[in-house]
Amino acid sequence: MMRTIDSITDWQTLRKSPIFENKSVGFVPTMGALHEGHGSLLRRSRQAHDISVLSIFVNPTQFNDPNDLLHYPRDLKRDLDIAKACGTDFVFLPKAEEIYLDKFRFNIIETELANRLCGTHRPGHFIGVLSVVMKLFNLIRPHKSYFGEKDYQQYLLVKGMVDAFFMNLEIVCCPTIRAEDGLALSSRNALLSAEERQKSRLFPYHLRSANKLEQIRQELENVGFSVDYLEEFEGRRLGAVRIGKVRLIDNVKI
Ligand code: PAJ
Repeated sequence: MMRTIDSITDWQTLRKSPIFENKSVGFVPTMGALHEGHGSLLRRSRQAHDISVLSIFVNPTQFNDPNDLLHYPRDLKRDLDIAKACGTDFVFLPKAEEIYLDKFRFNIIETELANRLCGTHRPGHFIGVLSVVMKLFNLIRPHKSYFGEKDYQQYLLVKGMVDAFFMNLEIVCCPTIRAEDGLALSSRNALLSAEERQKSRLFPYHLRSANKLEQIRQELENVGFSVDYLEEFEGRRLGAVRIGKVRLIDNVKI
């Protein structure tokens, strides 16, 4: 039986209870609007642990654009069906007032990578991400936590934080799940119009090409994308583009 918990004190009581004694705990943090990408992390966690925990929290502090936060897709009923189908034991649904009892006073700041790539275009984004992930790790106290390669910069920063603060858990990076036409699954894909969705396949297509970055940028701009960045970093080619009101990110190994 899957259980949902929406109060932090209820969760803390449960976490101290005998249910968790000598049990290995896997954790998948998300912002909901679950898709097969999240599903793959949940199944990994289910397979590897006695207890598998999912959190759904649309974290306000990592949205630098208020419109993005307003329009972020939410569908709890559907999310719970997916979580259940993936064998999740507990779904943690904290409220912002409880997560940010400190009124945003305390934050985790990384001073190098967080200011590059997506960080250049989304000021403060990774401060929001790292701070909420730290809070969630301290509440859930998992043995391992599962992250997607799709958000590779996020993975590197979370892994870096865990190492830097000697945190007692392991971060597992899981492969990017894509639609048949190659577009990486993302909650924000639901916000694309039919025409934009059609066009979006060209983003991973060009990202993978043997062309130089400048040529790829040109190809993408020619078909109507606005390019935030395209960069090679640590053996990967990473990019972010905008199409209509939606921002897409992706990365491939080179
Ligand atoms: P969210 O975008 O919901 O993603 C939750 C997790 O699912 C992240 O680790 C992300 O990399 C992974 N994921 C998303 N799309 C994927 C895909 N197509 N294939 C594989 N994995 C995929 O990332 C966040 O939420 C937030 O920043 C969070 C870490 C929860 C902090 O608020």
